[in-house]
Order: sequence, then structure tokens, then C-alpha cells
Amino acid sequence: MISDLWYKNAIIYCLSVGTYMDANGDGIGDFRGLDRRLDYLHGLGVTAIWLMPFQTSPHRDDGYDVSDYYSVDPRYGTLGDFVDFTHGAKQRGIRVLIDLVVNHTSDQHPWFKEARRDPDSKYRDWFVWSKKKPKNAKSGMVFPGVQKSTWTYDDHAKAYYFHRFYDFQPDLNTSHPEVQAEILKIMGFWIQLGVSGFRMDAVPFVIATKGPKVGKPEEQYDMLRAFREFLQWRQGDCIILAEANVLPDTDMEYFGDDGERMHMMFNFQVNQHLFYALASADTRPLTKAMIATKKRPATAQWGLFLRNHDELDLGRLTEEQRQTVFDAFGPDKGMQLYDRGIRRRLAPMLGGDRRRIELAYSLLFTLPGTPVMRYGDELGMGDDLSLKERDCARTPMQWSDEPHAGFTKHEKPTCPVISEGPYGFQHVNAAIQRRYPDSLLNWTERIIRMRKEVPEVGWGDFEVISTRNPAILVTRYDWRNNSVLFVHNFDAEPQEIAFAAGGEGAHGDVLVNLLGTEHSHAGADGKHRFVIEGYGYRWYRVGGLDYLLRRNDTG
Ligand code: NOJ
Ligand code: CA
Repeated sequence: MISDLWYKNAIIYCLSVGTYMDANGDGIGDFRGLDRRLDYLHGLGVTAIWLMPFQTSPHRDDGYDVSDYYSVDPRYGTLGDFVDFTHGAKQRGIRVLIDLVVNHTSDQHPWFKEARRDPDSKYRDWFVWSKKKPKNAKSGMVFPGVQKSTWTYDDHAKAYYFHRFYDFQPDLNTSHPEVQAEILKIMGFWIQLGVSGFRMDAVPFVIATKGPKVGKPEEQYDMLRAFREFLQWRQGDCIILAEANVLPDTDMEYFGDDGERMHMMFNFQVNQHLFYALASADTRPLTKAMIATKKRPATAQWGLFLRNHDELDLGRLTEEQRQTVFDAFGPDKGMQLYDRGIRRRLAPMLGGDRRRIELAYSLLFTLPGTPVMRYGDELGMGDDLSLKERDCARTPMQWSDEPHAGFTKHEKPTCPVISEGPYGFQHVNAAIQRRYPDSLLNWTERIIRMRKEVPEVGWGDFEVISTRNPAILVTRYDWRNNSVLFVHNFDAEPQEIAFAAGGEGAHGDVLVNLLGTEHSHAGADGKHRFVIEGYGYRWYRVGGLDYLLRRNDTG
């Protein structure tokens, strides 16, 4: 049964233990503190946590430089604390996905140290070397402007090593059978400790051919099947959520024609075009992106997101579209990053405008896929642009108006809390927002609750209904003899719209408003006509509220 696949209709919440709970190296709090925060997440309605890297690491890339895959960084606690945490999550019906960062290690990983030191070590072949400087050493950098090359000379090894990312992140030779076996071992280890799967970092690079002679890397897609098979043999409900910013014509290579590869992928295509639509009030490219990414196996799912811990990558837009988004949401050079993106958080990008924030969130919860939220966005948290690169959007969670936002009792937190301006913790924090029924936090809780009552979005098929107005997006989802319909107005001005609900059966004449009291009855011509306010959104159930009686068991 498709409806057994939990990830098709989950609410995923991304956080890192170091910014959610005090990480000051005093061995107090951290994973144990996170355990206490589970009640907050449970109340918000999240059903899965994506936990960012917490393994031992020199932390030169926020933990994406792992120096021991089988450990918890001592500043976050112990393996025992981790198991308590996954157990606590399970008790509350929350699943835990963790990052699996195996494209590269930290240069402090014992495997790499050994590989540099001893040419005869078995670990030498676990990395990618070249005696001479490869011709393309100055190309293919993921962090242009910060990262100078993809090959760096190592004095000990007397050779160049390959690194797709920063020079302190040597690439693993992922084509090597022993490396592949080790990756499975790492997955097996964490499954045993209670996780339900992995957000797999940099998947296109993990499966790419690597080496000094590789001009254009080729993806070895069969590796994905091997990862999935292993996982599902060990634990049937474990999944991989792939980070792969790829073009729509390769999506099916990642999902597999029969759904035998990745369970989930982030939908970067929709993400970028969604921000374009928010910036321009033109939904046509977004609709195109939705249709281009529509095809997927029944068991596969998209991970939908607004902002994540990285820059908002706009690299897939046309130059003109990108400029439009820059102008609207990140006009200053200091707000931009790597020549392709914006490094701000959601709320400041949208000028703190509550209507636009709700619109964006309403889209996150009703576009085709499973929503993946970023911690703090439910409060409208801001950014600290004085911090370098992507760190500006990784400041600690603002729990209360106590010192350091109630995040630490330590005098000097490892990462400063936002304490000035309109986004300072004195104004923006969970404790205050709990007290006001209309706060963004409580609004988010309610919208999540409603999202859970429209499973059609996760399990059904969608259709975009034209209104001939580019500022308006109307989507309908059908599943098991039921339909839901959503209307979004990307324009600041009210719009008068008309459309027929379409779909099968005679239910489309009535649209029952799920968030308000204004229902819609179609005219004699079968069309719904109404005015939707600037940045407005509507959630409807098609037909009456007897829908549960109508739901069938198939499909
Ligand atoms: C993608 C992650 O999202 C990013 O934060 C990290 O720097 C790179 N992969 C390298 O691991
Ligand atoms: Ca601590």
C-alpha cells in the first residue's frame, strides 16, 4: 500500500543540535537538551527530524567535514545520549533522518592521515590522487569565489588530492568497493541506533567518476540501487533523501524507473522557480518546473523546501530571472554568495511581511511533495549578515527572551544569537509567540495540522488549473475519489479570478474552505468566481465534508 510509505506525507523539520541546544563544550545539554525540545517539535506537529551532522568533526564546514563516522562529537554528547534522543523521538512518533556525508571526509580523518603518510596504506586508494597537477584543477569548484581549486598538493603524499568542495574535504574514492562497503557499514551502524534514514549529501558527486583523467564526470547510478537495497534489507521503512541539484531530465535516473533507487530528492527546480514567482508574481516558470518534475515512480517523493542551511541557489534560473530574484530579495552584494545565490533567511528576504511569509509557507505545504522546514522559520527568524558565507542563516534557535535567547547558560556561545534589530531574540522567540494565538508559530502549527488532513497532496496526483492570470496558481490534487484545491495569489494586489475545478465526478461545484468560512459555489457555467486578496491563499476541499465517506480504498 502506497499509504504505508511514511515519507510521502511527512512534515520534516531540519535542525542541527549545535544551534538548537547549547553547544559550548561543557558536556552539558546538547543531545540531552535536544531530547527535551522534542515536546516543542511534537506540539508543532512535525513527524520527522532531519538532523544535521553531529559526528566528530573539526567543524570547518559546520560538521560536513567528518573525522569519525561512528561517533558523536564530544561537544554534543555521547552515543548513549544520541540513542536516548532517537528513543525520545520515537516515543513521540517522530522519525529521525541524519546526514550521510560520504562524498568526502575531513582532512583530519584517520583514513586520510594514513593515506597521506603511507603510500602503501590500504587507505591510499580510498582517496583520489594525481602525481601531476591535473589540467582542470581550476574548474568544477562548488564554492566559487571562496574555493580556489579542486586539486591541492599534499607535501606528505607528494601528490595532489581531489576535493570537489573545500581543500580540507578530500573526496573519497567512492568507486572503490571497500569504500562502498564502508558506506553501507556506516548506514547500518546508525540504523541500529534508531534512525529512519539519511539525507545523503552531494549525491551527484558521490556517484560521479573521479580522477585526474576524468574530464566530464559520469554518474554511476547503479550505486544508488545498492545503497537502497542494503537499507531496505536491514530495515524496511528506512529511506534516503538525496541532495541532488540536477536537471529534470535526469530525475528518473535518481529515482529509478521502477522506484529502485532514491526514495526522495529535494526539488531544487521547484525551489528556484518558486522564489522567482515570489519575486516577479509570474507563476508560469514555476508551473513549468512543477510539470517538468511531475514524473516520478509512485513510491518516490519530492522533498519541498523554501530555505535550507545553504545559500538559496539560483543557478538553474536564466540570467534575467536570477537578477529579478536578486533585486527583490538580495540586492546587496553582501547578501549574495558564490555568484549564484542568496544567503539570507526567509523572513528578511520577504521584508518581514507576514502576508508573504504565510503565502510562502502555504505553498511549501501544498506544492507536490513532502515539506521540509528549516528550524526558526516558524518564528520568522532573521539572519546575521556579519557572519561569513552561509553561517549568517545558521544562528541559534531563539527560544525565549532570556540571555542568549535561552539557548545557553554559558557566557559566550560558540555561535552568537541574533540580538539586535527587529529579528533580535528579544522580539522574535518561541516563548512570546506561544502566548499569542495569531503568532506565526501558532499559525504554523495550525497549517501543519490542516496539511495532515489533506493527505491528497502527498499521495495524490496534481493538476495545475489555468486562470489565464500569471499571478495566480491553482492546483488540484486527486486521490481515492477525493480532491483538494489550492489557490495562491503572488501579486500584492487583489485579483478577480474564475476557474472550473475540473476533475472527475460532480463534486467540483462546491469548494469548502478549510481555513476560513467563505466557501465557493460555482456559477451556472460551472466556474468559481471570487476575489482573492493580495498575497492571499485558499485551501479548499472539493465537494462537501462527507469526503471521508466517499474515500475508496484503492489507488
Ligand atoms: C552540501 C551541504 O548542504 C553543504 O552545507 C556542505 O558544505 C556541502 N554539501 C559539503 O558537504
Ligand atoms: Ca553544552
